[in-house]
This record gives sequence, C-alpha cells and structure tokens, in this order.
Amino acid sequence: MRQRDTHTAIGHEAICRVVDDFYDRIQHHSTLAEPFARVKDWPEHKARLSHFWWISLGGERYRDDQYRVASTHLPIGISDALVDDWLALFHATLDDHLEPELAAQWFQRAEHMGRSIRMLGEWKPESGHLAQRA
Ligand code: HEM
Repeated sequence: MRQRDTHTAIGHEAICRVVDDFYDRIQHHSTLAEPFARVKDWPEHKARLSHFWWISLGGERYRDDQYRVASTHLPIGISDALVDDWLALFHATLDDHLEPELAAQWFQRAEHMGRSIRMLGEWKPESGHLAQRA
C-alpha cells in the first residue's frame, strides 16, 4: 500500500477514535497531564488534532486550521523524557485500535515529528545555536 493511502486504509472514524482515546489517556498520565493542562477546550483540541492527522496521513482538508508545531511546542519546554512518554502512550493507543501494519505507518509519522520536537528542546536562543548534547 502506498504511504499516501494510509488515511483511507485507517479511515476518518478510526482516526477520530484514536485521537479521542489518546487525549483521554493524556489527561490521566503521570507526566503528560501537567503540560497538557494548558488545553482548555478538549473537544476543540481533539477535532483540531483529528484533522491534523487526517491531512498528515494523506487526506483532504476539511477545516481551515493552520498548524504551527514549532511555535506551539517551543514555549512548553519539552524534555526528551516527555517526548518518550508521549510516543510510548501514542504507540499503546495505536496498538489498541489498529492492525499492526496501519499502527506502524501512523507511528512512523509521529516519530518523525517527535524528532523535530526534540530538536526544539536543544535550541538555545541566547547563543543562536543548537546546544551540544552531553
Ligand atoms: C512527539 C510527538 C508529538 C506530536 C506529533 C505532536 C503534535 C502536536 C500537534 C500537531 C499539535 C497542534 C499544533 C497546533 O495547534 O498548531 C500539538 C499541540 C500540543 N502539543 Fe504536541 N506533539 C507531540 C509531542 C508533544 C509533547 C511531548 C508535549 C508535552 C509534553 C506536547 C504538548 C502539546 C500541547 C500542550 C499542545 C496544545 C497547545 C495549545 O493548544 O496551547 N506535544 N501537538
């Protein structure tokens, strides 16, 4: 199956179910609940993220949302450990809803974004350079 057909193979309803369950789990998670406490309108957040994943997996737009992933995550100050926790919880949620091949395709996209979000944590604005890892 071609990567760009992932959205139809999974289907819009299943994407919404995964997103709904994932953010319910986030709100009860030992480390992720706190950074997500800034989200005040959960139905809107879930609708926005369901659309985000639908288009990221190859679907046509149906909302006017503009996503600003870097400027959304930068001020939250996300550590590597939080990215690990996010990805582990996302993996577990995908496994509970989807067959392994589809779960793996979606997870690959999330991991790719996780790598960019980790790099934001290394950004030191005062030096204008990426910090060296210890
Ligand atoms: C690792 C993979 C991750 C992916 C793929 C991801 C993806 C996204 C996307 C697409 C948005 C919407 C951006 C927008 O509205 O423009 C978002 C929002 C958000 N993300 Fe992430 N994220 C990841 C990790 C994390 C982590 C580790 C945290 C914190 C622990 C986090 C906290 C948040 C919060 C709090 C929002 C909502 C911000 C707001 O509406 O004020 N994310 N994420």
